[in-house]
Amino acid sequence: MKKYLVTGGAGFIGSNFILYMLKKYDDILLVNLDKLTYAGNLENLDSVKDDSRHVFVQGDICDKELVSDLFDKYDFDYVINFAAESHVDRSIANPEIFVETNVMGTVNLIQTAKEHWLCDKQWKKGCKYLQVSTDEVYGSLGKEGFFTETTPITPHSPYSSSKASADHFVRAFHDTYGLPINITRCSNNYGSFQFVEKLIPLMIYNAMNHKSLPVYGDGMQIRDWLYVEDHCKAIDMVCSDGKNGEVYNVGGHNEHPNIFIVKTIISRLSERLNDPEINENLIKHVEDRLGHDRRYGIDPTKVKNDLGWYPETPFELGIVKTIDWYLDNPVWVEHVTSGDYQNYYEKMYGSKI
Ligand code: NAD
Ligand code: TYD
Repeated sequence: MKKYLVTGGAGFIGSNFILYMLKKYDDILLVNLDKLTYAGNLENLDSVKDDSRHVFVQGDICDKELVSDLFDKYDFDYVINFAAESHVDRSIANPEIFVETNVMGTVNLIQTAKEHWLCDKQWKKGCKYLQVSTDEVYGSLGKEGFFTETTPITPHSPYSSSKASADHFVRAFHDTYGLPINITRCSNNYGSFQFVEKLIPLMIYNAMNHKSLPVYGDGMQIRDWLYVEDHCKAIDMVCSDGKNGEVYNVGGHNEHPNIFIVKTIISRLSERLNDPEINENLIKHVEDRLGHDRRYGIDPTKVKNDLGWYPETPFELGIVKTIDWYLDNPVWVEHVTSGDYQNYYEKMYGSKI
């Protein structure tokens, strides 16, 4: 039986990954270490709460003693690190916690993995540390070209700088000590369980409540959208078959300007609810994000050629599934948009939600 330490498994991508893995494999143990910050929500895992293949532990990836105790107890084969502070706007307002979790937390995980996996100069057979990173470490593209695995690392935001720093430490542990690793750098994910602060769920939530849709600047910034289940499949493939030490870029090959995404959500949602009040008059261009990256786009050739992975879900299907998920889960939506989120929204957008 393969034993995984999955960190951040109560967040958006981590919880999708746990559900994906439990569906796919019988003989597996997933220990989910999550601090349950504002972005972590155990309701995401309600459907597997009685499944003995998933063990939830509330705690911090920076907690050395706790992480070490978990290694002692479970003798992990793999660590997959999803845990992070993940929102660019929050990193602009408050960068310190990004250094703490994204950099210090990662260093704690790889250092503890090394202490447990390296014995008499031999690494535990088959062990691997997988760092879930982001294409944002490469910085911003002009009109032409794509990010490849050899694009220079040039992060612009405090968030992407903290992720880039973590990537450097992971690679350094491979180069210096021989820690078996992979780094995946994915593009913008969308799908079920994404916290409402991010573009797609925020636009769905505001539009269904007839609230204004805050588009930063001219809305012509481009992101490469990847359906979260396709991403989970890629992580599983990299973890099982990725070549030791390699970086894999995982993208949707699906670039769109933000304004296109917002207009698509308006159109699909108004159709779905038969509600003419959901229309483009809700769009409000607001002040641009500081240091806003203009374009991200991934060339997924390497992960396709080496591992046979490609993004399977067309955007037209993925966005409708995502909109339906938010409409079908009002209790989840109510929970994540109450309390602290109200204060965050008011501070961020200058109006009550
Ligand atoms: P998320 O914010 O939804 O979830 C993060 C999870 O980590 C939460 O459950 C939170 O409670 C947990 N966490 C935070 N700090 C912790 C700590 N110190 N110790 C333990 N747990 C902690 O994030 P996400 O969107 O699921 O992203 C997962 C990973 O993928 C992150 O590393 C992120 O940088 C990366 N990523 C995300 C995207 C995206 O589009 N969402 C794109 C590229 C890369
Ligand atoms: P986001 O979902 O925060 O992801 P990232 O910054 O990691 O790409 O934002 C996606 C794009 O949407 C980004 O260009 C910023 C833009 N955006 C808005 O225009 N309005 C918003 O309210 C938010 C949250 C994002």
